[in-house]
Formats: sequence, structure tokens, C-alpha cells
Amino acid sequence: MAEIGKNTDFAADLLLKGKLVSIPTETVYGLAANALNEKAILSIFEAKQRPFFDPLIIHLPDTESVSKYAELKDERLQVLAKTFWPGPLTLLLPKKDIIPNIVTSGLAQVAVRIPNHPLTLQLLKKIKVPLAAPSANPFGYVSPTQAEHVNAQLGAKIDYILDGGSCNIGLESTIVGIEDDKVCVYRLGGLAIEEIEKTIGAIDLRVNSSSNPKAPGQLKSHYSPKKPLYIGNIVELLNLNSTKKIAVICFGEEKFSTKNHIVFNLSVKENLSEAAINLFKFLRAADNTNADVVICQKLPDVGLGRAINDRLRRAAVQE
Ligand code: TXA
Ligand code: MG
Repeated sequence: MAEIGKNTDFAADLLLKGKLVSIPTETVYGLAANALNEKAILSIFEAKQRPFFDPLIIHLPDTESVSKYAELKDERLQVLAKTFWPGPLTLLLPKKDIIPNIVTSGLAQVAVRIPNHPLTLQLLKKIKVPLAAPSANPFGYVSPTQAEHVNAQLGAKIDYILDGGSCNIGLESTIVGIEDDKVCVYRLGGLAIEEIEKTIGAIDLRVNSSSNPKAPGQLKSHYSPKKPLYIGNIVELLNLNSTKKIAVICFGEEKFSTKNHIVFNLSVKENLSEAAINLFKFLRAADNTNADVVICQKLPDVGLGRAINDRLRRAAVQE
């Protein structure tokens, strides 16, 4: 198991020596390495068992430092950066040569984000190099939103976990770039599309293709618990699985008999931000029960509900 603590000097020291450190962000925990050190980057892919075609996001302390590593020239993206950074927004920007190709899987653009977490911002300011960090989970599994989640799965492979408590958004960042001179969203995430459109007008949604070369990590099947997961209407799913032991992840008032089931409620008050915070934690918890299957309520397709449904669809049994 890795050491867990709040010491950013220790974390900086390890990272500058080429080691892996898990860092807290407002979205999910990341598995960080010095983005300028190719050997350290290689060890991220090894620890996660992540395919090399899936590029990494680099994390920076402020917008001023972006120009050293990438070009933030598009005016619409500048507006987004100004409005939403630090925050759950990742921008795809033309990369400069200083960023090793292994970080971007050979693509000409690099994904850049300024996370909104005090400990990690402190660390980024201290270390003065960008940190490449995918979510700190084995490839394909549910993302971690607490230090203990990271330790349970990757603890043996990393040197330190910087403990920043529970992530207060709980969904990965929304990924935005430019294609055919249009602003496109490639991954739904912690920043709702509606918020983006309020600032720069309509955007193009390009999140569905698993072979989209602009977002190779947007695989059709991802974020999955080990147990079979079904999404839809809880009452219907309970009937369909009536012979099995069921873990239920619901939303809002429980309009079914909770007897005999293990129940997790994403938000009794139907609050989508609360549901986002709870989603990955409950998927993990449900996976760790003795249930045969996990069933989950499909959420309203608005605001963060869209990103939550996107994660659930990719995590669910593909039929
Ligand atoms: O909230 C987040 O974004 C978290 C925290 C740790 O910052 N990170 C995260 O990283 O979710 P990861 O590696 O699990 O997902 C990043 C995704 C990749 O799968 C890929 O689809 C996309 O970002 N991506 C990264 N670099 C890209 C690039 N150069 N071009 C296109 N897509 C890219
Ligand atoms: Mg991930």
C-alpha cells in the first residue's frame, strides 16, 4: 500500500525524481507524473495497464503557464478558459515540442487542464513542471473519488497519495476542442454543456464514436464495475432480475420495496450535483457487495445528468 498524506513538498520531491504520485482534483483523483519525463510517463501507462493509444491530460497551475506547452489562440477557447479555469474543463490545444509525444499518443494536440483543488494547485505551483495525470484507476475500471479508492487498487504501484478528501464534483472533466472551425465537446463531464453554451453559444457534441481519433479514450465500454450493471427504470429492472441478489443505485424517492436489496441513493432530493459526487463511490461500493447484479436508475438527460448517463451507458452491460 502507498503512503497517504498531505505533504506537497514530499509529493513534489518524488515527482521530480520521476516517481508516481496520486493527486486529488475536484473531478476525480489523478495518477500523476512529470509530463516532461518520458520514463515517468511510461510508468503511468504500466501502472494503469493503459494502452498507448489513449493520451494523457496535462495539469497546470494557471492560464499564464499554458503558452509554454501549448497554443491557446482560439478566442472561443480563451473565453472558456477565462470563465471556467480552474475547473472541470479540459481544452485540446496545438502542442509545443516540449511535450513528449508519448503524452499525446502522437497526436498534434495536447489536452490541458487547470484543476480546482487547493492542494494540487499548491503542488503545481511548487513543482513548476506540468503533471500528466489520467484518472487513478486500472484502465477500464471506475474512477476514484477518494484517496482510499486509489490505495485499494493502485497502492502497490505508486509512491504516495496526496490526500485531498472526497472530490467535490465526482465526474471527470468535460473535454473541448476545435474541429472544422467549430467548438466540439468530445467527453461529457463535470462542466455541463448548458454552462458552456451560455458563454459561447451552441457547440457540436462528438462523444459517441469509439474510434474517434480526436478522443481515443472515449471508448464505448469503460468505467465498468466487475459485476454486471444494468441501467433503466428501477421497478422494471427489479422485475427482470427477481431471482438474483440485487444492489440498487436509485435517484429520488424510493418507490419500490427496499426489502432484500442493498440500496444506494444517489440523491434523495434529485440533486444532480449530489448524484455526480456519489456516482463512482456507489458503483464501487455496489461492486464490493455480495450482490449478483447492480441496477441503476437512468437519470434525467439534462445538466450533469447527461454526463452521468454517459458514464453509466459505458459502464453497463453492452447489449
Ligand atoms: O477530470 C479529469 O479529466 C481527470 C483528472 C485527473 O484531471 N483526468 C482524466 O484523465 O479523466 P483520463 O486519462 O482518465 O481521461 C483523459 C481522456 C483520454 O481518455 C482521451 O480521451 C482524452 O482525455 N485526451 C487526452 N489527450 C487527448 C488528446 N491529445 N486528444 C484527444 N483526446 C485526448
Ligand atoms: Mg479515466
